[in-house]
Order: sequence, then C-alpha cells, then structure tokens
Amino acid sequence: MTLRKAGGNWVAGDRFFDREVEIEALIERVEDGNHTLVTAQRRMGKTSLVREMLRRLEERGDFETVFVDLEDCSTAADAVVEIAAASLPIRGIVTRVKEWVRKSSTATMDRLDELGVSELRVKLLAGVDAGRWRTQGDALFASLAKSEKPVVLAIDELPILVNRLLKGHDYRITPERRQDTDAFLSWLRKNAQAHRGRLRLVVSGSVGLEPILEQAELSAHANIFAPFELRPWNEETAVGCLGELAESYDLRIPGSVRQEMFRRLRCGIPHHVQQFFDKLHEHLRRESRREASLDDVGRVYSQDMLGVRGQVHLEHYQSRLRTVLGDDGYVVALELLTDAAVSDGQLTDGSIRRYEAYLSVLDDEPATRIQSVLHVLEHDGYLACQDDGYRFVSGLVEDWWRARNGRGFVPFSERQA
Ligand SMILES: Nc1ncnc2c1ncn2[C@@H]1O[C@H](COP(=O)(O)OP(=O)(O)O)[C@@H](O)[C@H]1O
Ligand SMILES: [Mg+2]
Repeated sequence: MTLRKAGGNWVAGDRFFDREVEIEALIERVEDGNHTLVTAQRRMGKTSLVREMLRRLEERGDFETVFVDLEDCSTAADAVVEIAAASLPIRGIVTRVKEWVRKSSTATMDRLDELGVSELRVKLLAGVDAGRWRTQGDALFASLAKSEKPVVLAIDELPILVNRLLKGHDYRITPERRQDTDAFLSWLRKNAQAHRGRLRLVVSGSVGLEPILEQAELSAHANIFAPFELRPWNEETAVGCLGELAESYDLRIPGSVRQEMFRRLRCGIPHHVQQFFDKLHEHLRRESRREASLDDVGRVYSQDMLGVRGQVHLEHYQSRLRTVLGDDGYVVALELLTDAAVSDGQLTDGSIRRYEAYLSVLDDEPATRIQSVLHVLEHDGYLACQDDGYRFVSGLVEDWWRARNGRGFVPFSERQA
C-alpha cells in the first residue's frame, strides 16, 4: 500500500490512514439506524473520516449518501438550499427541486430542464424564501426518505451554523436569534425522528454543539444524536503514518526519528503529523538527501513548523476561541493559555486562584467565568486536567502559543491583585 501526502483538504482513499475502528463504529451506527454527532477540534480528521465512510458505503451499495457542508451558511433557508443542492444526484430529488424553482421564479420555466447542478443551486438560493424554508425542507426530507435505498445524510459543520444563528456576527444571544435557532433545530430534529428508518444523519463539527446549546438552554435538541468523539492518533499510529509516508516517497526516516517527531507534537493530531512530514520532506529535498536525522527534526520543527509558514495553519486555534466564547470569554481564555504557555505548559490551581483574585476587580463572578472558559478549553482539546491544574495537550500548540503571545506577558504569579 502507498499512502499519498494529504494536500490541503480532507483526505479519502489512498490518502486516508488508519481510523479503521472509528469507521467500523460509525458504519455500525448507520446500519442500526442511529443519528450521530462527530466532534473534535479542527484538523482532527472529522471530514475525512465521514467522507471515507461514505465512500465505503457507496462501494457496498446498500445506501445512498449525501454530504453537505454548512460552514458558509448563515440562515436556516441557506441550510435547506445546501442540503437540497447536495441531494440532487439522488433519484427523484431533481424533480422536486425543479418544482420549487418553477414555483418561485417566472422566467426560467422553459429552460429549467437543461439546467445543470450548479445553475440549479443558484436558482434555488434565489428561490427558497425565508418564510417557506420549513415546508420546503420538510418536502425535501420526505423525498429523501422515499428514495429506493436508505439515505445517509452527512452534515458537516452544523454547530458553526447553529452558533451563527444564535449569536450573529457580534457574538450576542438575543431572544430573536434564540427563536430562530430553536426553529431550525426543531425542524431538523422533527425530520430526523420522523424518517429515522429511511434516513440517518451523521453530523460533524469542530465546535461542540452541546456547549453552544447550553448557553441558550436548547440542549434538548442535541439528544437525537449519539455523540462520537474523534480522538488524536496515539504514538504508534502517528509513527506508523510517518513510516508509510516515508516509504511512499522513498525517504528513510528511522523509528527513533519518527518517535522524536511525535515527542515534539505530543498529541497526534493527524494534520500536524502530515504537516511535519511535509516540512521534513521539503527540508530533505532542499538538502538533496533522502535520510532524516534527529537534528533535522529539531531544525524543521523550529524553522518550519513554528515558522511563519507553519503558523498559518495554527491561527485558527486562537481565532475560533472568539467565535465560541465571545469577546469577554475570549480575553480570559487568552490569559489562561498564555500563562500556561510561559509556565512550561502548566496552569496550576495556584495560578488560577491568583488570576481569580486579579479578575475580581473587573468581574462580579470571576470564578464562574474562569470555570466556564476552562470547561471550553478542556472540551475543545487545548488543555487537559492533571493533578495540580491543567496542561497544554499539544506540544506544537503550546510552543506556538508561547511564541505568539508570550512576549511581554506578565504571569499571574507576578501580578498584583
Ligand atoms: N485518516 C487520515 N489519514 C491521513 N491524514 C489525515 C487523516 N485524517 C486527517 N488527516 C490530515 O488532517 C487534515 C485535516 O483533515 P480534515 O478531515 O479536514 O479534518 P477536520 O474536518 O477535523 O478539520 C487533512 O488534510 C490531512 O492532512
Ligand atoms: Mg472538516
């Protein structure tokens, strides 16, 4: 077997490594008729896992599969359009969709039969109106459920849409936004339950759905989904992946060198593993060599992984916190993580208490605020609990965070309350 390098996007087929246990588990859920919510931080391989699973299900031939990404949607109507557009290849859906377009526009009737998928999508966007997305969406789900084979509908980045519906662009929950979110999730839930036998949802997202819904007291909507947490690769798997990549590209990366690569990362986030290989490959190519040494690992890590080019891929660790936490929580998260980064990756209980005292001047309930931020940081894989507090999960993220935010930072231990 040859494993090809990943490139920039999700992977499947000959670029997909491992995850056999996870794929089997997901397929089993699909076969049992359950709806699943796959969560993990960005770049853990959720999209790849789901795509590869759909690919295998297609190959077996007992399901129809639909994949839709809601990352760029901002309303319920957008979401219905995207799901409709992604479902066009399934028999019977085109007719239904053309009916909507016919009803909502006048000039296109005669040309409608010649329209391709991308043109139909544009017409749909113009046609599905904000008031009728619900009935149109119901009709769409009903058509999917009538399809000859049961349908697996994968919805990627649903929590991002939910977060946007709930908080808008200023990250604030208003009664109206809460109502819209409630309407959308009720609609989805109702359809998921009504067509359970014919339709299985596999929803995934890099933001947990539960913490978002908790904030709006809408948690009940998440309970149709059985949660599935995608974990990082362990050392053996990450080192194995590096080995296969080396073989495919005719490089020699001894076991000790691959272990050193993992030691630097500390956490086997597949994207980081791939990036490390890619950077090492480039480095060896520049030096016209085919064998990597321990020295190469150190050099590539600090020059390339932590260098300007590598950092582009890490930006989201900071920016997404604002999306999830809003402005106030964001500042607290920055401080907590930076204190940990400049303290050898550790955030001790003592530091947390000192920060609490410091915050109490500005905040009525500093302890509650800190705890809720820590909850997110832990849930989203930045920090893990340990005996005396928390520590950074990923060595790469820790080193990057220190380089980016550490300079000039006054640790909690040196602050005056
Ligand atoms: N199973 C896998 N095999 C090989 N590489 C993977 C795998 N899963 C993820 N990756 C790497 O991680 C990157 C991000 O994967 P993706 O599926 O887009 O993650 P997510 O959807 O969780 O953000 C891919 O470009 C690839 O480099
Ligand atoms: Mg993804």
